Amino acid sequence: MHNKELDQTLVLIKPDALKNSLTGYVLSQLSEFHTGLRFAGTKVVNVSRMLAEEHYAEHRGKVFYPSLIEYIRGYLHYPGKPEKQRVIAIVYQGPNAVDKVREIVGPTNPHLAREQKPGCIRSLGTLVPLTDDKGEVVGERMDNLIHASATPAEAEREIKLWFRPADIPPYMRIYTTRQSGGFFYYKDDKLLTAHEPGSVCLLAPGDVTWESDLNALELISRKQPAPCTLRTVAAKYLVNEKGED
Ligand code: CDP
Ligand code: MG
Repeated sequence: MHNKELDQTLVLIKPDALKNSLTGYVLSQLSEFHTGLRFAGTKVVNVSRMLAEEHYAEHRGKVFYPSLIEYIRGYLHYPGKPEKQRVIAIVYQGPNAVDKVREIVGPTNPHLAREQKPGCIRSLGTLVPLTDDKGEVVGERMDNLIHASATPAEAEREIKLWFRPADIPPYMRIYTTRQSGGFFYYKDDKLLTAHEPGSVCLLAPGDVTWESDLNALELISRKQPAPCTLRTVAAKYLVNEKGED
C-alpha cells in the first residue's frame, strides 16, 4: 500500500541558481524545518544532451525548447567551462512532497512569480528574450533557478530518469526494483546483450534496477513495443560518463 510518509519529488538546482550562489538559499527554503521533507538522494550531474532531451521531452517542438536544452546543460551560464556545467539533482521525501515543494518554488514565469507569490524561489528568476536569425524577438526563455516535479506521476518518471536505485538508501526507495539477470550494453542508440568494442555496460547480472527500466530493456532486446524508449533508460546509466554529449 502507498505510504504517504514516503512521497518523493525531484528538484534540480539549475545553472542560473548555481551561478548566482543560490544553492544554500534553495536548500534552506526546502529544509526539513520548513517542509517536513528529507533528502533521499543527491547528485551533481553534468547534463548530457540525451538526459536534457528526455527530461524535457514534453516541450520538444516549442519555440523555447532548443534554448531550454542549452540552459539546463549549463551552456548559457557557463559557456566554454565544462567543469562548471552541472545541475544539483535532489530527491526529497516526505508527506505531500510534490505539492509542498511546488508551493515554495512558485509559478514557472518569474514575472508572474513576483506578482502572485512574492518571496517564492522563482520570484528571483528572470526572463530572457529569444531571437531568430534576423534578431527578431520570437519568444522568451524563463530562467527560474529550480525545477520541481509537477505531479506524483511526473516525479516517478523524473526520479527514475535521474537516479538509479543504488543512489537512494534501500529503506527510502518507493518504486519497485528488480535484479537484472543478464547483461545490457548501449552503443550508437542500440541495445546489445553482449559486449562490443565501444559499447557501455548499462546493467550486469545482479544489478538492482527500477523494475520498469528492466522490463523495458527486456522488451526492447526482444524487439517488442516498450512503454519507454531505450534513451529514457540509457540516459541515466550514462550520467557523468566522459565523452557523452
Ligand atoms: O518547470 P515547470 O514545470 O514549472 O514548467 P514547464 O512548463 O514544465 O516548463 C519547463 C521549463 O521550461 C520551465 O521551468 C522554464 O525554465 C522553461 N520554459 C520557458 O523557458 N518558457 C516557457 N514559455 C515555458 C517554460
Ligand atoms: Mg514541468
